[in-house]
Amino acid sequence: MGKKITIEPVTRIEGHAKVTIHLDDAGKVDRAFFHVNEFRGFEKFSEGRPFFEMPQITQRICGICPVSHHLASSKACDAVAGVTPPRTARLLRELMHMGQVVQSHCMHFFELAGPDLLLGFDADPAIRNVVGVIQLDANLALKAVALRRYGQEVIRLLGTKRVHPVFGIPGGVNAPLLPESREAMLKPLDEMIANVQAGIAVAKGWYEKNRALVESFAVFPSGYMGTVGPNGELELYDGQVRIVDRDGRRLVQFDPKDYLDHIAEHVEDWSYLKFPYYRKLGWPDGTYRVGPLGRLNACDSISTPLAQAELKAFKQLNGGRPVEQTLYFHYARLIEALYALERIRQILEDPEICSTDILTPWSTVTGEGVGCIEAPRGTLFHHYWTDENGQLTKVNLIVATGHNNWAMSRSVEMVAKAFVDGSKLTEGMLNRVEAAIRAHDPCLSCATHAVGQMPLEVIVYGSDGREVRRIERA
Ligand code: MG
Ligand code: NI
Repeated sequence: MGKKITIEPVTRIEGHAKVTIHLDDAGKVDRAFFHVNEFRGFEKFSEGRPFFEMPQITQRICGICPVSHHLASSKACDAVAGVTPPRTARLLRELMHMGQVVQSHCMHFFELAGPDLLLGFDADPAIRNVVGVIQLDANLALKAVALRRYGQEVIRLLGTKRVHPVFGIPGGVNAPLLPESREAMLKPLDEMIANVQAGIAVAKGWYEKNRALVESFAVFPSGYMGTVGPNGELELYDGQVRIVDRDGRRLVQFDPKDYLDHIAEHVEDWSYLKFPYYRKLGWPDGTYRVGPLGRLNACDSISTPLAQAELKAFKQLNGGRPVEQTLYFHYARLIEALYALERIRQILEDPEICSTDILTPWSTVTGEGVGCIEAPRGTLFHHYWTDENGQLTKVNLIVATGHNNWAMSRSVEMVAKAFVDGSKLTEGMLNRVEAAIRAHDPCLSCATHAVGQMPLEVIVYGSDGREVRRIERA
């Protein structure tokens, strides 16, 4: 009789879900699933509220990505109010977003992925964590801490000292950038760029030494989605959404407000999280990946020089074809962190950045608005419908972790089949399955639109349906 393995909770990801691994009679992996199994309807909860409260309300969806929700919501509110924010307000929102990208990407690379990469998938779980990384390379850990703090500081200087920033409002932002805050953001930039470059050097060294693993770990074709600017360059705050196919050919490029024409969502009874796909190709042919890997595969270039040089190297990793290797998510993440730092300098050096022209007033409502940004984890849509008084009648959110739901499920199954042997189970085998999920940096509190955190577990079942092994780490 076969067996079933469950890894629960999967550690070092944000939130809570479950992996189940089903073994056949010979102890080999038959099937594996990534379940997201809790749901609290944030969309329903928001109905009846005034639309302009949403930038404050929606950032409470998630303690990990409050800025992403805050800004996507602010953009949706601009559309509901029928106004375009002044140029300076747009730049300041993008600046806050870049702070979050630096903070989120660097924390992920150094603290969440780092333990596997630097200490090894089979290292003792007691040391395979951020403390182990500090013991191994204290200097690198300090650089990571500095990067995370810098990203937080950019957010804090713009959004006041509150935990949840109050900054974006319909039509713009509520405070100009002070010259002393601009100085405080500019001063550490060279050091921060050097810190990310040190991380990139570590990553490249690791890829060099682990080529066989990289080429056997969740490598599969898919579509890729990301936002681009007018010349096909990477955009994280605003632009058109592009989807390319497994060969890198453009399938579609659309204004985010038309997303429902292009994106549909598939439902499976074993997961509360829906599976978005490109409507025209249908399910499952239209599945795609988002986030750093999706964006760097979808864009043609990056508008800042250091990140562009890295993008050129990235584009050659798979012989000029889209990069299919899941473990290259980590490299893509660092390239984006480098871009975000370079972009912070461009924004801060803009002659209008300290202007006080930061708000376009509004008086009536259009009744509908879509806001879209590239959150660190991938494309985030907020879509609001209101009555004539601006009270919300319907809300739809599609979050990054949702877009990657199919890819995470596929990665889990591939890695389980390649690395898990039910007859001699090790903790390291199950950690590889978790790492396949972690590479996508999922945010499960966002995915379920739930408030707070949910743990994730891995459970192995035999073919008789009995539980064989369960991993639950706090
Ligand atoms: Mg939704
Ligand atoms: Ni989140």
